[in-house]
Amino acid sequence: MRTPIIAGNWKLNNTISEAIELTQGIKRLVADTTDVEVIVAPTFTALAAVYAVIQESNICLAAQDVYWENNGAFTGEISPTMLKDVGCEYVIIGHSERRQFFAETNESVNLKTKAALTTDLKPIICVGEHLEDREAGNTEKIIEDHVSGGIKDLSAEQMLSCVIAYEPVWAIGTGKTATPKQAQEVHVYIRQLISEAYTDEIANQVRIQYGGSVKPDNAAELMSQPDVDGALVGGASLQAESFAHIVKSSIK
Ligand code: PGA
Repeated sequence: MRTPIIAGNWKLNNTISEAIELTQGIKRLVADTTDVEVIVAPTFTALAAVYAVIQESNICLAAQDVYWENNGAFTGEISPTMLKDVGCEYVIIGHSERRQFFAETNESVNLKTKAALTTDLKPIICVGEHLEDREAGNTEKIIEDHVSGGIKDLSAEQMLSCVIAYEPVWAIGTGKTATPKQAQEVHVYIRQLISEAYTDEIANQVRIQYGGSVKPDNAAELMSQPDVDGALVGGASLQAESFAHIVKSSIK
C-alpha cells in the first residue's frame, strides 16, 4: 500500500510574507488529514520562513531545485546540505520548466538526484513528454529516456527514496489535463521500467505522482487510478483551499 503524496510546486511565486500566509492556511485546512503526505515547495528565499510554520505539523518541505556539489565556486547555486539545513525533506528535480528554460538534461537530473540522496533528501524526479512527442507516438520513448536517465546507477535502496512525477508538458499550466486513462497508462509504463531496472517489489513501492493542471474538480478521478499515487500541483497549490481540497481527494 503506497501512501498518497501531494506536493505544491509554488514555482516563482510568493514573497516571504505571502508564503507564510499560504502555509498557515494550508496547515489549518489539512491539520486533521492523515494517510497522505503533504509537501510544499516554496522558492529558496521562503524556505526558512515556511519551515518555521510547518515544524511539528503534517506538512513537509521541498525545494524546487538543487545543485549537485556541496560547496565551492558555483555562484548562485544551492547545495543539498543547505537544503537539508533549512529543513527540506524533498527536492523537485528535472521539472520540465528547468529542462526547457534552464538547460536541465538527464545527466544533470541524475547528478542532482544522486547528490540529494547522498544528503538524505528525497528526490521528486519529473518526467514527461511534449505534445509533439505524444502526437508522433513517442511518449514511451521520452518517458523511458527521462526515467532511465534520471535513476541511472541508483541502488535499490536509493530508488525506494525517490518519487517520480509524470508531468506531460502539454498539460502543465494549460488547463488541459491528461485523462485519468492517459495518466494511468504512463504510470503503469513507468512502474514497468522501474521493475525492469530493479524488481517488481521495488516498482510496487515507488510512488508516482501525476502533474499537469490538477485542480479540485479533477483530482479525485485522477487519484482513483490504481497507479496514480498523488499529484504535483502548480497553479492550484497557490490557494490554500484548492490545495487542501486536492490533498483530501487523494486519500484512497
Ligand atoms: P500546473 O503545474 O498544476 O499549474 O499545471 C504543475 C507543475 O508544473 O508541477
